[in-house]
Amino acid sequence: MTGPGPSLFIIGIEDTGETYVCSPAQNLLRAMERLGRQGIPVGCRGGGCGVCKIQVLEGEYRARKMSRAHVSAAEEAAGIGLACRMFPCTDMRLKVLGAIRRFVVPGASASPAEPGTDRYAGAD
Ligand code: FES
Repeated sequence: MTGPGPSLFIIGIEDTGETYVCSPAQNLLRAMERLGRQGIPVGCRGGGCGVCKIQVLEGEYRARKMSRAHVSAAEEAAGIGLACRMFPCTDMRLKVLGAIRRFVVPGASASPAEPGTDRYAGAD
């Protein structure tokens, strides 16, 4: 640690225009749950199920190890990851891709990037 940084960052959800706050010590999924969406299937919260897959459009983050079954090396390089394993270092803007998408984005259908689709299966 090199001195006190901001204690909270603003996270914007591209799909809905909503924002929420997240501390550097809190993962992006945990803070997103506070939006209060009914029925968000938070899954394993440990990087193993893939329901919380997101793509970072802007901002910096730290990420803990993620399963290659859910995030390929190419996806990771494109800013795609699992919200339960990602921690903000700056304000961020993100897009929700995983199964939680239909709970976070009212009226959304499954994303083409949702885990299990052919487009992403075995990409690494
Ligand atoms: S909640 Fe399971 S991978 Fe994030």
